[in-house]
Amino acid sequence: MEHFVTMKDQTATEILQLVKRANHISQTGGNPLKGQFFAANLFFEPSTRTKMSFVVAERKLGIEPLDFMADVSSITKGESIYDTAKTFEAIGANFIVLRHQEENIAKQLAESLSIPVINAGDGTGEHPTQCLLDLVTIYQEYKQFNGLKVVIAGDIKHSRVARSNAIALSTLGCEVYLTGKEEWHDDSLAFPYVSIDEAIEIADVLMLLRIQHERHQDQFSLQQESYLEKYGLTKEREASMKKHAIILHPAPVNRGVEIDSSLVECERSRIFKQMKNGVVARMAVMETLLNQGGNFNEENFNKRQ
Ligand code: CP
Repeated sequence: MEHFVTMKDQTATEILQLVKRANHISQTGGNPLKGQFFAANLFFEPSTRTKMSFVVAERKLGIEPLDFMADVSSITKGESIYDTAKTFEAIGANFIVLRHQEENIAKQLAESLSIPVINAGDGTGEHPTQCLLDLVTIYQEYKQFNGLKVVIAGDIKHSRVARSNAIALSTLGCEVYLTGKEEWHDDSLAFPYVSIDEAIEIADVLMLLRIQHERHQDQFSLQQESYLEKYGLTKEREASMKKHAIILHPAPVNRGVEIDSSLVECERSRIFKQMKNGVVARMAVMETLLNQGGNFNEENFNKRQ
């Protein structure tokens, strides 16, 4: 693995290796890398979880984070993302972590740089490390993926989390379903749409999405739409879920909109566990890219455990 910019590039074996490695780190704490490494964390869109869990993951691996703030950088003088990334490459960053509003920009940078690029969210494109932490959370619950019914619910059209997860979950043999407001359906994802009530009936994993207000052309009134009652997870719906079913949400959560506020920390919610897994998932990716946890096949991986 040279970069981590899309789940489209990953085979089922590669995804499972990362999931198992992250899960192993969650059980053992992992080990610092051998050598000196610098990470360029380039965030051009707001972030709490992704940015801070990358910093924690880097420090746990002994990697020095180079904290970049776009609004006080030479970006304000008109420097391009490409020249910014080339600058970090020149001064010795060992990889780039990029969050940016433009879809596909991480892939474009990856094609031009000699150091690995990790996509930390590109517009409505993909969010592969969020996907990996979601997979780790599902794996910890079910120990495998084949045949699991996963429903991705909400603002599908504007969600990079939906895209990465739909691709990876299907690669791993899950049955993927989508649900949400019709105008937010995305025909580029070839998975069946169901109603929220059908979703509640079938889901082993209900993956709720945040409404991406910042990516909408037209603002809509949440009150007017009574979104929670029509499309969200109410207390009544939660009570009808399968006994073993779990709830995921990438967060930040619009409490009372996608999910009743009282359910954010309910027994079947894994929302804060997902955040915790964000650290180990990102450690597994960085280790692998720096070739210190990577290049292990299943046999070697099992010997390492
Ligand atoms: N889930 C997620 O990407 O959260 P942040 O925007 O806070 O990083």
